[in-house]
Amino acid sequence: MVESDNSVSLICEQDRPAFLGGKPMFDEPLHIIKPTLFDPEEIIPDLKKIFSLGNITTHQYVKKFEEEFARYLGVRNAVAVSSATSGLMLAVKGLGLSGEVIVPSFTFTATVHSLVWNNVKPVFVDCEEGTCNIDVSKIEEKITRDTTAVMPVYIFGNPPAIDALQTLAAHYNLKLVFDSAQAFGAEYKGVLAGGFGDCEIFSLSPTKVLTAVEGGIVTTNNDALAKFLREARDYGKSGDDISHIGLSARMSELHALVGLKNLKGVDGHLQRRRELIELYKGLLGTLDGISFQKIPEGSKASANYMVIFIDEEGFGLSRDALCSALKADNIGTKKYFYPAVHMQAAYSMFRDEYGPRLPVTEKASDTGLALPLYGHMERETVVKVCRAIKRIHNFIKTTKE
Ligand SMILES: Cc1ncc(COP(=O)(O)O)c(C=O)c1O
Repeated sequence: MVESDNSVSLICEQDRPAFLGGKPMFDEPLHIIKPTLFDPEEIIPDLKKIFSLGNITTHQYVKKFEEEFARYLGVRNAVAVSSATSGLMLAVKGLGLSGEVIVPSFTFTATVHSLVWNNVKPVFVDCEEGTCNIDVSKIEEKITRDTTAVMPVYIFGNPPAIDALQTLAAHYNLKLVFDSAQAFGAEYKGVLAGGFGDCEIFSLSPTKVLTAVEGGIVTTNNDALAKFLREARDYGKSGDDISHIGLSARMSELHALVGLKNLKGVDGHLQRRRELIELYKGLLGTLDGISFQKIPEGSKASANYMVIFIDEEGFGLSRDALCSALKADNIGTKKYFYPAVHMQAAYSMFRDEYGPRLPVTEKASDTGLALPLYGHMERETVVKVCRAIKRIHNFIKTTKE
C-alpha cells in the first residue's frame, strides 16, 4: 500500500507506474522499431559475386530488384533511388512541377522538402479527422492558376481517397504524385499501392515494412517519366551527354541485394504487423481517451505504424505526458508527425499564413503517439506495452477520483 499520499491509499504498490516510482514494465529499452532482417550468411554468396564482378552500384541486382518490386505491385516501372526523399525530388523535377503544389502539413518533412528544393511553393491543406489523410473536400478552394499538382501522402500507410483525388486532378488537369514512403503493401479497393496517379514514391529506410537498409523506389506506368528518373538519378546522364540537372541518387548493388532478400519474406511480415495492430486495438480500444486512425472501408493500410491518439481529458494525461511516462517503463514511442510541417523551424515562413488554419492537422500532431511495432515483435511484447499504458491510465484515473 502507498501510505505517504492519502489519495492513493488504495493503490497496490505493484500498480504504481514506473514514472511515479514503480517497477519499469521492461528491464531493457524497447525500441519503437527494429528492422526485420535475415541471417546475413544467406547473402554471402551474392555479396561475393557482386564483389568479384566489381559492379557495386546500379547494376544487375538493382535491375532485378526493380523488376521484382514492379511485379509485386503490378506496375510497369520501378526506378530504384538512394532514398524516398531523392525519389520525391526527382519526381517533382521529372513531372515539371512549378508554381504551387497542394500537400498536407500532417506528413513527414521530406514530402515538403522535395517541393521547396525544386522552387515549388507548398500549399498546405488540412487533414481529415479520423483517417489523418489530406481532406479532399478542402483542396478545391486552394487551387489557383499556379497550381500544378496535388501530392497526397499515405499517412501511416493508410490510402488517401484515391478515386476522389484522381477525379479532381483530371478535372483541373493537375499532376498527382503520391508520397507512398510508408505505403508498401497498402491496398485501395483491392489494388496494391504503386500504380496510382502519375507516380508513387516508396521509402526503403530501416523504419519501413520493406527495407533495403536505405533507399527509395519510384513506381510509375509512365515510361517517359521512368526513363527520365533513370537518367536523373545518375546526374542526368544520357549517353555521353548530360540532358538534365540530376542528382547522385543511385541505389547500390548491396542495398538492392538486401531489398530483394527482404521482399521474399515481406508477405509474412505484413501479415504479422497487421495481426499485432489488431491486438493493440483490441487491448487498448476499451480505454477512455484513446482512439485510432480510421481505415476506410475497402482500404488496407500497410501497417507501417501503430499510432494512438490521446484525448487528455478522457485518458487522464496528455500525449506528451504519456510519452514521458512510457519512457520510464523503457518503452520507446514517437510523437508522430510532430511538429506538423508548417510548425517546423525550417518552415517558419508559413507559420503566420497557416498557424491557426489547419486545426485537424494540429490536433493530430499534438495527440498522436506511435507505439513499438515491427515484423518480428512477439505478441507478449504488445501485451506488456498495453499493460503499461493501462497501468498509467488506471493509476491516474484512480488518484483523480
Ligand atoms: C511520408 C514520408 N515521406 C518521405 C519520407 C522520406 O523517406 P527516406 O528516408 O527514404 O528519404 C518518409 C520517411 O520516413 C516518410 O515517412
